[in-house]
Order: sequence, then C-alpha cells, then structure tokens
Amino acid sequence: MPNTPAHSPVSVLGLGLMGTALASALIKAGHPTTVWNRTESKTGPLVAQGATPAATARDAVTAGGPGGPGGPVIVCLTTNDNVRALLEPEAEALAGRTVVNLTNGTPGQARELADWAAAHGITYIDGGIMAVPQMIATPGAYILYSGTDEAAFATHRETLSALADTKWVGTDPGLAALYDLSLLTGMYGMAMGVAQAFALTGSEGLDPRDFAPLLTDWVIAMVHGNVSGMAEGLATGQHVTDVSNLAMNREAFPNFTAAFAEQGLRTDLFDPFQDLLDRAVEQGHGADGFSRLATLLKQG
Ligand SMILES: NC(=O)c1ccc[n+]([C@@H]2O[C@H](COP(=O)([O-])OP(=O)(O)OC[C@H]3O[C@@H](n4cnc5c(N)ncnc54)[C@H](OP(=O)(O)O)[C@@H]3O)[C@@H](O)[C@H]2O)c1
Repeated sequence: MPNTPAHSPVSVLGLGLMGTALASALIKAGHPTTVWNRTESKTGPLVAQGATPAATARDAVTAGGPGGPGGPVIVCLTTNDNVRALLEPEAEALAGRTVVNLTNGTPGQARELADWAAAHGITYIDGGIMAVPQMIATPGAYILYSGTDEAAFATHRETLSALADTKWVGTDPGLAALYDLSLLTGMYGMAMGVAQAFALTGSEGLDPRDFAPLLTDWVIAMVHGNVSGMAEGLATGQHVTDVSNLAMNREAFPNFTAAFAEQGLRTDLFDPFQDLLDRAVEQGHGADGFSRLATLLKQG
C-alpha cells in the first residue's frame, strides 16, 4: 500500500470499546495500523483484521522506525490521567509526532496536556467523539477537534476522516472538550427529564412503551422550539418573551414536585430548577423566557 496521506500509517493506543472501533475503521480504510493495549489480549481481533500488534506503548509510538511513521498517534483511554501517565515516559519518542487524544476529559485537562506536549516538541490535538463505538465510520458520527496547530490537523484530516466526520472547532486546545461536554450536558438534561417522566407515568403502572411515542414527539418539538430561541435571546440580550415567561413557570413548577411527591417519587432531580426559577423572578426577570436562565448559572 503506498504511503500516501490517504493511507498514512497510524498507531492506536487504547483498545477498549471505542479504541477498538477506531482502529478497526482505520484498518478498513487501508491505513497500516499499529495497535497497543494495556491488556494485550484485546489486540487479537484487530490483528485478525490486519493490524500490527505492539508489545509496548513505546513500540507503538515508534512503529515505522526512528521518528515513527509520520501518521498520528491516536490515544483513547478511560481518563486523561491515564493518558498523562502513559505518555509521559514516552515524551522523547513522541517528539516531532502528532498525538490525537480522543479520551473524554475537561477543557482544563486538554489545555494541560497541550502545554505538556508543547514543552516536549509534540503536536497535540484534542478530540471529542460524538458517537458510540457502533457509529464509528457511519454517517451521522462526528469528532470535534481543537489544538494550537491547525496546520497539523489539516495534514491528518484525511486520515481522521476514516473514523467519522471531522469538525475543527478552534486553536484553543480546550474547545473540543468544551463543545463535547456542552452537547452531552444537553443530553444528560434530557435523560433526567425523560427518566422522571417515565417514573411519573410508571407510578400509575402505565406501559412505558405506550407513553414513549408521545414523549418522543413532545421532547423533539420542545427542543426545536427552545434551543434556537434561547440562542437568539442569549446572542441579542433580548430575553423578554410573549410565549412562556419565568414568572408563570415559577408558579406552575411546584405542581411538578408536588405531583412527584404525591405519586411517591423523589423530587431531588427537579428541586434545583425551582430554586433557579425563584432566583430569576426575585432578581426581576419574571417577564423573560428560558434564555435568561443560562445567564444565572455562574458561580459566585
Ligand atoms: N464508548 C462510548 O460510547 C464512548 C463515546 C464517546 C467517547 N468515549 C470516550 O472514549 C474513551 C474510551 O472509552 P471506551 O468506551 O473505549 O472505554 P473502555 O472500553 O472502558 O476502555 C478503556 C480503555 O482504557 C484503557 N486504560 C484504562 N486505564 C489505563 C491505564 N492506566 N493505562 C493504560 N490503559 C488504560 C483500557 O485498557 P485495558 O483494556 O487494559 O483495561 C482500555 O483500553 C473514554 O474517555 C470515553 O469517555 C466513549
């Protein structure tokens, strides 16, 4: 296989559920792929697909000879503490290489890793995977990337596009993690609401499968109506609404926590939202819509 950018060699460190899916996609796209995992047995299925196993992380990083193969070193471990512990002893071997870290973490952790990498002559790109392993290399999956060296990202973009669509979000290395966690924050908020809704219908023994279509349609309609409207309010500073204001929501909200309690359910997922509505109205924002709430979440 020619060593063109389209088929540049790649090393993948970390072969959990996600790392295995990433390595498999690279192999299928024709990249000579070296794989390493702490628990060696996980390399087996990938070797069967054509990967080259590395006995140590150092071997994976230096695969292809001194200076490595020129392709990116992709890392996907459980946490960024694991990443730091794994890469620190390999700093010298990684000098001049590009590390693409697809481990989930905070913006601050990404910036710290980027600083550490820069101090050792390593190019660092942070990534946030917006997909589950089964979605890798399928339409709809994408990975957010950020790092100080946009040109390095451009060099490796074609290789990385074997994993999922690529979305470059900026030269602050923390931005990919910021976008990633912000998107997942929206997801967790939805998961909390959906869990409470099923608990409420379940408290009367309703079949969740009967309720699911109603809930799905409602959540989708509310997302469509609210997300762009909130964005507009935040961008323009015009929070006043003629749709559903905070004063009304504040008065209605006790019905929710009261109903949960009446039905024998916990209220503690939703109690903080009542506090937020109270604070918004007490600070004079009763005529505003939900966009105002995003301005009231700073500490202090
Ligand atoms: N799975 C998803 O749906 C998904 C989606 C988006 C993002 N992510 C992110 O992708 C990353 C990996 O997730 P995953 O689902 O692949 O997790 P996983 O299946 O639990 O795999 C974790 C990987 O990290 C390795 N590891 C853990 N501690 C290590 C250490 N101290 N030194 C070296 N290797 C270590 C494990 O090695 P061993 O095999 O030796 O234990 C394994 O390869 C996480 O940051 C996760 O948040 C996952």
